[in-house]
Amino acid sequence: MSERGGQTEEVPHPSGARAARALARAARLAIRALGDVEPNPAVGCVIERDGQLLGAGHHRRFGSAHAEREALGDCRRRGHDPRGATVYCTLEPCCHHGKQPPCTDALIESGVARVVFARTDPGRASGGGAAVLRKAGIRAELSLASPLATHLSDPFVHRVRTGKPWVFAKWAQTLDGRIATRTGESQWITGPLMRRRVHRLRSRADAVLVGAGTVIADDPSLTARDVRRVRRLAARVVVESGARTSPRAGLYATAHETPTVLVTTGRRNDLPECVRQIVVPGSGDGVDIERAVLALGDELDACLVMVEAGPRILGSLIERDLIDEAFVHLAPSVLGDSEALAAAVGRDAPRLADAGRFRLVRAKPLADDIELHYRRFVEP
Ligand SMILES: NC(=O)c1ccc[n+]([C@@H]2O[C@H](COP(=O)([O-])OP(=O)(O)OC[C@H]3O[C@@H](n4cnc5c(N)ncnc54)[C@H](OP(=O)(O)O)[C@@H]3O)[C@@H](O)[C@H]2O)c1
Repeated sequence: MSERGGQTEEVPHPSGARAARALARAARLAIRALGDVEPNPAVGCVIERDGQLLGAGHHRRFGSAHAEREALGDCRRRGHDPRGATVYCTLEPCCHHGKQPPCTDALIESGVARVVFARTDPGRASGGGAAVLRKAGIRAELSLASPLATHLSDPFVHRVRTGKPWVFAKWAQTLDGRIATRTGESQWITGPLMRRRVHRLRSRADAVLVGAGTVIADDPSLTARDVRRVRRLAARVVVESGARTSPRAGLYATAHETPTVLVTTGRRNDLPECVRQIVVPGSGDGVDIERAVLALGDELDACLVMVEAGPRILGSLIERDLIDEAFVHLAPSVLGDSEALAAAVGRDAPRLADAGRFRLVRAKPLADDIELHYRRFVEP
């Protein structure tokens, strides 16, 4: 541990396979509530003694009991006494009164001996729980043994640190990296299973963003259809500066059913009133894309923004390093036409060092297509 500006900076503890297993288990529980807990983080918790599971729980929905209290309750329901046990949490236990009392109080009262957590809570009010536990004589350790558990809190930590929502982009491309033909045809590059996957991704987002070019070319509906449970009704967001989209576009025509937002440099008065308009400053490319992303956090309280735009918006986002996560849907086809549209355009990148970089998380085949899941590359 070291001190930084009055706040304690945690140094990861060298933990072993047991911590990795327990934290991954806690993360898998937490994942069940993704889309239900935001703007809170998804958190899972597992309580063990000598490798034996005593109890487990997760934060189920915004405002409900936190994972630590759920796990302690589960432990007692199963007839176990948590005294002397080890608690594994995906996020540092909170130490403040919010919608729920501090988790540190519950842990201290329970008599547990050790708390292992996969991520430090950066919140000004909620963070610092580890120090509170240590003061009460509980061993509190940061463990990076489970990447799944550590990265689970990325969107929450990102928003607390930067004020920006987490941006995940999805695009479908051919093997030669084209997302539409030279005439703008892109429906459909991938097969039906992959397209269903897109609906599931939408069902977790707070906002689905496209640029004017995609509205004009595809007239998309951007809703989550054929999904077992839509957790969040995402607002459809159009980014444009030139008032080029038709007021009769499907997104505007259905704005009374599904929230629709125009992020623009100047208000339009030819759109239905139910289309919310957010005015932000312009930039060389049109709308200042960073201000647009910030506005979705500030005005819509969006935590997760899914981008389904074309190459111009994607190029602007990559230029400003605003893509946190990408889902590239690769189809087994080749256009081989230099006039076909590339996935991202509009940047000056003469050197390889100018490339936006990502690291591969997972490659998942779906019928003949493959979903390549990436995260922003961070220097080790
Ligand atoms: N395969 C796929 O996954 C996929 C996905 C989406 C789209 N597409 C294809 O992509 C093509 C459309 O490409 P596109 O590049 O025109 O679509 P786009 O990126 O969705 O929209 C670009 C437009 O957004 C507006 N804009 C506002 N601020 C901007 C900024 N900061 N940076 C960039 N653009 C900004 C501009 O229009 P204003 O001048 O009006 O502001 C710009 O022309 C279509 O053929 C569509 O089928 C394919």
